Amino acid sequence: MTIFDERIDRSNTSSVKYEEMDVKFGRNDLIPYWVADMDFRLPEFAIKTMQKRLEHGIFGYTKREEDYYDSIVNWLYTQHGLKVDKECVEYGPGVVFLLNMMIRKFTAEGDKIIIQPPVYYPFFKVIEGNGRVILENTLILEDGKYKINFIDLESKAKDPKCKMMIFCSPHNPVGRVWNKNELEKVAKICYENNVLLISDEIHFDLVFPPNKHIPIVGVNEKYKENIITCTSPSKTFNIAGLHSAYWIIFDKEKMDIYKNELGLLDLNRSNVFSREVTPELYKNGAKWVGDLVRYLLDNRNYAVSFINKIPGLKTNFVEGTYLLWIDCRDLGLNTNELNDLFVNKAKVALDSGDWFGETGKGFMRLNFACSKSMLEEGLNRIKSAVIQMN
Ligand SMILES: Cc1ncc(COP(=O)(O)O)c(C=O)c1O
Repeated sequence: MTIFDERIDRSNTSSVKYEEMDVKFGRNDLIPYWVADMDFRLPEFAIKTMQKRLEHGIFGYTKREEDYYDSIVNWLYTQHGLKVDKECVEYGPGVVFLLNMMIRKFTAEGDKIIIQPPVYYPFFKVIEGNGRVILENTLILEDGKYKINFIDLESKAKDPKCKMMIFCSPHNPVGRVWNKNELEKVAKICYENNVLLISDEIHFDLVFPPNKHIPIVGVNEKYKENIITCTSPSKTFNIAGLHSAYWIIFDKEKMDIYKNELGLLDLNRSNVFSREVTPELYKNGAKWVGDLVRYLLDNRNYAVSFINKIPGLKTNFVEGTYLLWIDCRDLGLNTNELNDLFVNKAKVALDSGDWFGETGKGFMRLNFACSKSMLEEGLNRIKSAVIQMN
C-alpha cells in the first residue's frame, strides 16, 4: 500500500469533478475520470504548513516574498535544467486566465492564433471568445503516435494575420512529451515568422521515463524572447483550487506590460495559502513527485493493457500527463452514442473527445490520477458496457 492507494471521499467539498457532473453529463451518479485534477492528498508536510498558517487566524492582504520566487527559480533549474532570473517570473491566478491576458495584450481583434488539435478545449474558447481567429495545425496520428505537421505549421505561421501560437507541452490530451528536435522546429518557425509563442507547460512535472520534459524556452538562446511560458504547481501537487500559476517571460518589455495589467486588475496580491504552500512544495516536494510519477506510471501501464484488450478500444502509452486518450472509433458509434455508452451504460464520466476539436471525435479522455482500485472499477465498468453492447 502507498499513500496514493487511499480512496478519499470527496463528496461535499464543492469539487467540480465530483459535484458538477450533472452539468456536462446530466447526472451525478457516475465515477469521475474527467476534470484534470487528482484524487490524491497534498503531501503531509505541506498540509502542516497550511494548518500552521490557518491557526494564525488572520488572512489579510498578502504579498509574495522573495522565497516564493526563489523556490520557483530553483524548481525550474533542479527539475528541468532551466536557468531563469527571478525578474523573469511572475504570478497569475491560473493558466487559462493568463492565456486570455496574453491574447488581449499581445494580439488584436481579427488576428489569427495557431493551436494544435486535438487539444485542451479552453484554447478554442480563449481565442474565439476574444474575437481572434483559430488556425488549426492539426496533429497527425501515425502508427498510434501523434506528430506535428511542420509543413502545415510553417505555412500557417507565414499568414501575415497570424500573430500567436498556443503550444501545449506536454500535450493534453494526446500525452506527447515533445522532443528537442520537435521543440526547436516549433520555436524556429514562430521566431522566423514573428509569431509570439505561448507555451502552456502546466503538465511539465508529470512525465514518464525515458521521456524528459524540455522547456521550449531553453532549447535555443536565440528564440527565448519570443517565447512566454505559463505553468503552475497545480497539476503536480493537485492545488488547482489555490490559484497558483506563473509566467516565465524573458522579454522585459512584455513583462512590464503584464505586470502593469496585473496591478491594474488588482490581482498582484496573493491567496494566503498559495503563498504559503508554493515555496514549501517547491523546496521539499521533489521526492513526493517522484513517488507520484511512479504510481501514475503503474496506473498508466495497467490501464493501457486493460483497455487494449477491450474489443473496439485502443490506446497508447502516453509519455506524460495523467490522461489517457482512448480511440473508440472501431466501435462504430457516433458522438452521442459513444457518450451514452460511457455515461448511461458504464456510469463513468470521461471527457468526450469532440470537446478537443473535430479530430477528437470518436475518442474519450480518461484521467488515471486516482487510486488503482478506483481505476480498476472504472475500467471494469467500461469493459462490461462495451461487451454488452456487442
Ligand atoms: C494544458 C492545460 N492548461 C491549463 C489548464 C488549466 O489551468 P488553470 O487551472 O491554471 O487555468 C489545464 C487543466 O486541465 C490544462 O490541461
